[in-house]
Amino acid sequence: MAAVPPLAADAPPLPPGPRQHPVLQLLRYSFKPLEFLEQAARHGDTFSVHLAGFGRLVHVSRPEDIREVFRGDPAVLHAGEANILLATLVGQTSVLVLDDEAHARQRRVLMPPLKGERMRTFFDAMRREALATAEAWASAGGEVRADLGMQAVTLRVILRAVLGAEAAEDFEELQASMGRLLREVRHPLALVMYVVFPPARFENSGLLPFYRLRRRFDTRLHQIIAAQRALPPEARPACLLSDLLDIRYEDGRGMSDVEVRDAVVTILAAGHDTTALSLAWALEQMVPNAAVMAKIRAELDAVCGGALPEPEHLPKLEYLDACIRESLRLRTILPLVVRLLKAPFTVGGVTWPAGTILCPSLHVLHHRPDLYPEPERFRPERFLERRYGPHEWAPFGGGSRACLGQAFALYEMKVVLATLFTALDLARPPGAVSKPVRRGISIGPSDGTRLLARRRL
Ligand code: HEM
Repeated sequence: MAAVPPLAADAPPLPPGPRQHPVLQLLRYSFKPLEFLEQAARHGDTFSVHLAGFGRLVHVSRPEDIREVFRGDPAVLHAGEANILLATLVGQTSVLVLDDEAHARQRRVLMPPLKGERMRTFFDAMRREALATAEAWASAGGEVRADLGMQAVTLRVILRAVLGAEAAEDFEELQASMGRLLREVRHPLALVMYVVFPPARFENSGLLPFYRLRRRFDTRLHQIIAAQRALPPEARPACLLSDLLDIRYEDGRGMSDVEVRDAVVTILAAGHDTTALSLAWALEQMVPNAAVMAKIRAELDAVCGGALPEPEHLPKLEYLDACIRESLRLRTILPLVVRLLKAPFTVGGVTWPAGTILCPSLHVLHHRPDLYPEPERFRPERFLERRYGPHEWAPFGGGSRACLGQAFALYEMKVVLATLFTALDLARPPGAVSKPVRRGISIGPSDGTRLLARRRL
């Protein structure tokens, strides 16, 4: 999110919202994010919150308003500028923090390698890593934490997709250092730290561990990029990095080392923790629900015949697919997305001036009882009974900024869950319930989703 100047005097009055001091609102949003948003949403479909250091955020939660924002002109609705705090990790040339033509150009570069038809190439790594975690959990002989297990799976899968099957002889070290870097970003006080230690002043001081870790990781990444550049294309491993080195923009120019570094870190960062937290929440909601687990097992038996899933089975796992969609609805790990207005923009009949930060409030949208009756209930059947539009079910955001990894994430979630449920009997320890807590900009389970695992295969 970006800090912006106050709105002009002739701006429409801000919609109602919490009245507490902005510092208190930032702290509440840091420690009890969903409770804070739910209470704010009681003020109306459109409400505002005021977060110290970030400004006033106007939230919209009616599907028709969210559609207007997603369909709005990207030159008016800047997401990159609004996402600028992410630049400290992903860099200034990342698709996440760019707008206008520069954004469209980076999106064109990243889209083909993440398209649906490329998923088959990632299947083996996804199933292998899920099985390795299943084995580790079954051997643990006690409680395990789903969030940590899923982070290991998704990080190893994305590192292989980005850097190639043989990634590097120091793959384990790369995994560990990326993991350490992301642990810093995941801190519950990450937003507060960003305000107290603005990167412009602290980036080069070496004071904060985050910047030291980032420097070390970047040095290694630049060595890998240089080594790959030195190879002819046919000698490089098939991976996203190799695709990026072959890219030619419309003017014939290739990507610079910094652009390649930023694209690689963007995919590693955006593609790993998000999916891991979504998987942990999926396990949290499915495992203790006996009726849901019985249906998942019946489907797996009917489709895969008791064996591990194969790529051709995946489209047939329709109930599991509905479970994943329901889980992403109930626990939307990114509860809002942000757009900074560069010119007046009308939504729901109100024209907001340039400088307004407009937020499609995804968590609130996903808990609307008029759209999702009994919104707190985990009921996958709703996704089999009706089709929800992209402005009604939007865990991956939307419009010209919609998540580039949606196909990858949904495919990975299905492979991993189908593999775990085939290989293991899972249970939650008696009395275990997680509360949603902040993990950097995402929302994760407070106890990491503790599980008990027993071998089935
Ligand atoms: C369950 C997992 C995931 C969730 C819930 C998720 C969610 C999101 C959301 C909400 C956005 C912002 C959209 C907006 O502003 O409208 C986004 C953007 C993005 N995501 Fe994901 N994501 C996930 C996985 C992934 C994966 C696996 C990758 C890459 C392999 C990825 C790459 C990206 C990129 C590059 C963007 C920036 C798009 C742009 O600004 O044009 N994400 N994601």
